[in-house]
Amino acid sequence: MMNEKYNKDREKPPCAAEWRRNPMGRQEPIGVFDSGVGGLTVAREIMRQIPNERIVYFGDTARVPYGSKSKETVTKYSRQIIRFLQTENVKAIVIACNTASAFALDTMQKEFDLPIIGVVKPGAKMAAQTTKNGKVGLIGTEGTIRSGVYAEFIKSFKPDVEVIGKACPLFVPLVEEGMWHDTITDQMAQRYLESLKQQDIDTLIMGCTHYPLLMNSIVRNVPDGVRVMPQGTYVADSLNSYLQRHPDIEANITRGGKCHYLTTESEDRFAESAQIFLHEKINVTHVEL
Ligand code: DGL
Repeated sequence: MMNEKYNKDREKPPCAAEWRRNPMGRQEPIGVFDSGVGGLTVAREIMRQIPNERIVYFGDTARVPYGSKSKETVTKYSRQIIRFLQTENVKAIVIACNTASAFALDTMQKEFDLPIIGVVKPGAKMAAQTTKNGKVGLIGTEGTIRSGVYAEFIKSFKPDVEVIGKACPLFVPLVEEGMWHDTITDQMAQRYLESLKQQDIDTLIMGCTHYPLLMNSIVRNVPDGVRVMPQGTYVADSLNSYLQRHPDIEANITRGGKCHYLTTESEDRFAESAQIFLHEKINVTHVEL
């Protein structure tokens, strides 16, 4: 399954002295997955906030996008990826894809005996805490908006909040084409966000991995005073607090936030797109599911 090059690159287990310093620590990596490169907006926040942990990032670029696929298909893909990541000995999983979190988190948590964190709940919680007038806008893929999961979570934190969703299907390809500072992107943002402008929202959730890269166009097209919320920080916070509550899982040995990147499609294409998100060149390994 895994190719030889990747296996050779794997971290050695910690030496005895390291174990003695941190007898409770677990050095296995955290698996982070997305339909493609977008989840890197979440992975980079995890690496920034929790540098002790190793990460295996899995981008399912052969089957991206998930945003227009059915719940059944996205759940099936998520299951296959988690099974694969288990063969990599991961100790926890972050579903760094809003569509997969919205459609599959619940089922995956029931099926797997492994801590699994999604990206929807942390963002929903923060939005519920942020809104003053109880009107929250949500932008995301068709799947995420259709799932209704954000509204469920937000209402579980604050029942009176109204969530107004808007699917923005062209945002993902615009980001992937590198058009994040482009008049076409501005025009699309204007068109998508027009209906939300009429709704008097005071908070806007960027409910998709790719949208932080369109922050400028999005902010230009919402009324002043609307709080625009990217999710990476809240997801990393949530993982961090989970690890602190479970010191038996946490790794306390600094390894400089090493991350292995895996893709189901072209390694070069992944590395090229990833550079947009990470601002650095990375090594990528192709894997077959
Ligand atoms: N990662 C997806 C999400 O956050 C966006 C890309 C896709 O449609 O697969 O919903």
